[in-house]
Amino acid sequence: MKRIPLSLILIVSAFVIQAKTLVVYYSYTNNVHNIVLELTKQIEADIVRIEPAEKGLDYAANNYAIGSALISSIRNNPTDAAFYPAIDQVNVNLTEYDCIIICAPLWWSNMAAPLQTYLFHNGEAMGGKKIGLIVSSASSGISGVEGDARRLIPEGDFLSPSLWIRSSQTSNAASMISQWLKTIGYDAMSGVEDIRTDQNIVKYTIFSISGALVAKDALSMQNLEKGLYIVNGKKIYIK
Ligand SMILES: Cc1cc2nc3c(=O)[nH]c(=O)nc-3n(C[C@H](O)[C@H](O)[C@H](O)COP(=O)(O)O)c2cc1C
Repeated sequence: MKRIPLSLILIVSAFVIQAKTLVVYYSYTNNVHNIVLELTKQIEADIVRIEPAEKGLDYAANNYAIGSALISSIRNNPTDAAFYPAIDQVNVNLTEYDCIIICAPLWWSNMAAPLQTYLFHNGEAMGGKKIGLIVSSASSGISGVEGDARRLIPEGDFLSPSLWIRSSQTSNAASMISQWLKTIGYDAMSGVEDIRTDQNIVKYTIFSISGALVAKDALSMQNLEKGLYIVNGKKIYIK
């Protein structure tokens, strides 16, 4: 019987292929935008911002009348595309992503209407993917937004719990996001491993993306910068 070297078993078990994450969000008064800026300081992700086709609308005027009308229209006709507000075209290939983090403002206890439009048209293509949800509201609880996400992405593999950041907590978003990423096990799920802390492995052969040998023992590994590397033909991300 052929024997597999122990070092190879250790290396293969320690490295996983990096999964790809997309952050999709809408933001009217930029609270969610600021949350996304903090989030993407902490994870590697592509970002898509949804924009309504009709520009310059004041969703907050007259006690949020326009926002209220848009939400009522969707609530009364959730399966009809004509009742969702038009949005600008979004060019993103969802098949490239394993994880999608949706960052949404809450409007009248529901997901902000323009983001619902995007998910109405693309939720099916998100089936089977890991779905994370971050919601910003002034004070209302987020269960209605979670319900919208599950309705619009019926086959999504939702990460639990969602993260609720009140608008008054936006400046604390960094620590709330960092705690949330730990709670949902984001690093393990996305394939990000801090392999430098793994004491079991003593032998490495790590190449840069351009093919240069950059580390082959624990000591040289300590000096590697954050980034993408190739280990035995697999992509890994060192943070
Ligand atoms: C049309 C509209 C309706 C809203 N409805 C609620 C609500 O029912 N409850 C609440 O707590 N906040 C409500 N808000 C406040 C937003 O959820 C909150 O300000 C959020 O942080 C906005 O995110 P943004 O700055 O990214 O747009 C509403 C805001 C708008 C514009």
